[in-house]
Amino acid sequence: MQTMPISSIPEGDLVIRTIAMPKDTNFNGDIFGGWLLSQMDLGGAVAARKLSRSRIVTIAIDAMRFRNPVKVGDTICCYAQLQKIGNTSMTFKLTAWVNEGGVSDSRSCVTEALFTYVSIDEQGNKIPVFRPENPNPEDLK
Ligand SMILES: CC(C)(COP(=O)(O)OP(=O)(O)OC[C@H]1O[C@@H](n2cnc3c(N)ncnc32)[C@H](O)[C@@H]1OP(=O)(O)O)[C@@H](O)C(=O)NCCC(=O)NCCS
Repeated sequence: MQTMPISSIPEGDLVIRTIAMPKDTNFNGDIFGGWLLSQMDLGGAVAARKLSRSRIVTIAIDAMRFRNPVKVGDTICCYAQLQKIGNTSMTFKLTAWVNEGGVSDSRSCVTEALFTYVSIDEQGNKIPVFRPENPNPEDLK
């Protein structure tokens, strides 16, 4: 499977910082991959809402590969870097970084993926992503 080149330092904005908790484990006692994916999706949503100034939904997530297990007590940081603004969509590269036990100086990237969000109105219909030349989403209500 092709994967994006891994960065050695985080790129983009810090959008989530949290601690992996026992309730987030899988049956092996490691952190469940779906939990990490949801943190990244939340982080991307933070970035997409800020950029679009509108409601947003996730329309697509590209393939993910988990490089290392995440343990209970690790600090997780998610970074979002804008890759593309389309008409109604925004694509961010999300990377998840782990600081083991939350106390060391080292950090490693455990996974990354492209998350695409679409701007929507209150009825859930897609609308153009806010740009200075576009109508203000508030005016579309
Ligand atoms: C978001 C939604 C309103 C979009 O309506 P739609 O008619 O399906 O939209 P389109 O097919 O025109 O796609 C909208 C944009 O997403 C992009 N897109 C669609 N599929 C994509 C994919 N697989 N990867 C990347 N971008 C994609 C399109 O290129 C388009 O971008 P653009 O306007 O910037 O050119 C609708 O698909 C929806 O409600 N989906 C459910 C979203 C949701 O509930 N997510 C959470 C799931 S738990």
